[in-house]
Amino acid sequence: MDTVILGASEVAHLSSVDPVTGRIDGSDLLNRKKNIGEDIGIHIRNGIIQRMAPNEEIQHEWGDIRPDTHQKMHITPEGNRWINTNGKAIVPGFVDSHTHLLWDGDRSHEMALKIEGKTYQDLSKLGMGISTTVKATRNSDISRLIEIGKNRIQRARSMGTTTMEAKSGYGLDTDTELRLLSAAKSLEDLHDAPALHHTWLGAHAYPPDVHHQSWNEHLVDEQLPAIIEQNIATSVDVFCEPGWFDLEFTEDIVHSSMRKGLRSRLHVDEFVDGGGLNLAAELRVDSADHAGYSSDDAREKASKAGVNTGFLPGTPYVHGDPMTNAIEQCINEGWKWSMATDFNPNCRSLSIPFVGSLAVHRMRIPPIAALAAVTVNAASTLDTPLGVGQLIEGGVADLNILQTESADGWCLMPGDNPVDFSIHHTSLIGYTSNTNSN
Ligand code: NIG
Ligand code: FE
Repeated sequence: MDTVILGASEVAHLSSVDPVTGRIDGSDLLNRKKNIGEDIGIHIRNGIIQRMAPNEEIQHEWGDIRPDTHQKMHITPEGNRWINTNGKAIVPGFVDSHTHLLWDGDRSHEMALKIEGKTYQDLSKLGMGISTTVKATRNSDISRLIEIGKNRIQRARSMGTTTMEAKSGYGLDTDTELRLLSAAKSLEDLHDAPALHHTWLGAHAYPPDVHHQSWNEHLVDEQLPAIIEQNIATSVDVFCEPGWFDLEFTEDIVHSSMRKGLRSRLHVDEFVDGGGLNLAAELRVDSADHAGYSSDDAREKASKAGVNTGFLPGTPYVHGDPMTNAIEQCINEGWKWSMATDFNPNCRSLSIPFVGSLAVHRMRIPPIAALAAVTVNAASTLDTPLGVGQLIEGGVADLNILQTESADGWCLMPGDNPVDFSIHHTSLIGYTSNTNSN
């Protein structure tokens, strides 16, 4: 099946990707000219981009389309699709590289306590926070978890996310962790599901009343082998933070997991500089996320070791904490970074455009740099096919058609959805025939 897209004012192809690292870093992140083209038509065959060339050329090759029409799509008698973006911009599909996708329950009541002055750590000590979600999740059977997941991935899809990482971590015991991972796996079979990357976060919190040392042993000696045996996760993750899992155990479980063939990611330095990013650099994990309090030395060391720092601006936003200025520093220094939602019961946003808005409106990061952070750079931390996170001939068709003429508009509609519809391989997601408004 052929799909021809004409009429885009701007196409953010992100072609300043470094062929060695597969990423965009440093000053290239600020270069609109290198990363966004004008007057580009796109020809897709069987889900792969065949050609990107001036609109007129593509139109010529493909014959009869009327770009002046306000009709958004036309299907030919042969079943080929003509899409007219009517001047709206195209960007790559969004890659949400850090989500706690599946859990049950509701922690909305914690907000009032936080406003009264309780911190996230205080609530955790009172048995709230992660523990509350664990209780609800353990009571949730697999069909309920699948229903919950279905609803969430559909919402993420409608806001332009075409690839998503999904962590377990709200079961803590082996049975529930396996149930969460298997529910997440079965979401892949749903029509129009995003591409999913599965991460085992057994080391998310200690269950109440367990002896930490024996729980650590349980994770490595019992839970990890069960995860491996079921071949149900691609990566391991650890909440490495003072008060949760320490550096020594983090190193231990990451080494054990990597020896068994898992890739690795970490939560580090979310509340204090606990040396987590420094360890992440030594372990050469794919991505060390949060990292709001990491030292400059650790940031440099991580980047030199090829370790991406994944900023999650939704989390300081919901905590009422200041936004980090580390992103600007990463751009200036050429350090490796990306952004993601951190969707979880405490930060319930699946919107990558909202993450972009926080970076742009609150941290004054240019939209094109923020776009690379949630597309090609996020994809570089996962196992994705060519074309995810960028628009390239020979790559998979994975793109969003926006509501705005400028590609910068992808993150400039906070609280609203800047994505009109998406193309993921051969599927159209969220398409309606309504003419776009401005
Ligand atoms: O990444 N900090 C650790 N885990 C999650 C939050 C978990 C929760 O509060 O339920 C995070 O922010
Ligand atoms: Fe997280």
